[in-house]
Amino acid sequence: MKTVATVAALRQSRSSWVGDTVAFVPTMGNLHEGHLTLVDRARQEADRVIASIFVNPTQFGPSEDFASYPRTLEADLEKLASRGCDLTFVPAQEELYPRGIDAFTTVDVPAVGTGLCDASRPGHFRGVASVVTRLLNAVSPDIAVFGQKDYQQLKTMERMVAELLLPVSLVAAPIAREPSGLAMSSRNGYLSDAQKQQAGTLYRTLKQIRDDLVEGDQSWSEQREVARSQLRQAGLEPEYLELRHPQTLELPTPGHAEAWVLLAAVRLGGTRLIDNLVLPTPVNVR
Ligand code: PAF
Repeated sequence: MKTVATVAALRQSRSSWVGDTVAFVPTMGNLHEGHLTLVDRARQEADRVIASIFVNPTQFGPSEDFASYPRTLEADLEKLASRGCDLTFVPAQEELYPRGIDAFTTVDVPAVGTGLCDASRPGHFRGVASVVTRLLNAVSPDIAVFGQKDYQQLKTMERMVAELLLPVSLVAAPIAREPSGLAMSSRNGYLSDAQKQQAGTLYRTLKQIRDDLVEGDQSWSEQREVARSQLRQAGLEPEYLELRHPQTLELPTPGHAEAWVLLAAVRLGGTRLIDNLVLPTPVNVR
């Protein structure tokens, strides 16, 4: 696997693959099995795979963990190579933000769905959209793979690509989970083993809500209250627990059956965890 740090070197390598299709996996490094399943998916989708590793400063809020975000470049490159990645782009900040990050060209996608992660992380999706646009323009992939774990991010990227007419197809890869059910995330590294077990309650709670909604046992508002108190009892402080339209992330319309998506964010100690679950069948929510 080749590693390049500049857009010029990236484009030069890519241009030698005449006629090959290219799939791209953007990451912030500190790779875990979840990221590697995105690389596997990219491998299935195209002849060549490019990954990027860049801890994007513009998507972190002032009180978030940009400075302490784990940088594990050597291990990340080994993992990518072992899964058949052809080329990894590891730009320095100046490569993507040549004039710094106080005033940079932004891409602002109007919020997809009100609230959710956008409420507690103002400016986050502007940072994500701004960096992903730069990365897509640098890589020019046929396909880009995003994890379904960051569901609002995925929908924001889909809207951005559609509205800016970016010539790339997005592929959504399913959530990879720990044996406890905990969705894999770089931030799980902040959790102790005991907390990782505890955090499995989030997925169990989402599955319980899904089953109850599909069976039509309870109204959504009743269920949400029960689920929020279950999460609290397990030591998980809910930030949001929402049922939304799977594409627009708008609130459910009474009388309209849809395969809604359940979305949650909780705090466990100092760590924020997100997860989601798409209902298997359309449900008319009471
Ligand atoms: O999902 C991530 O890891 C990041 O938000 C991304 C897409 C790599 C942009 O920095």
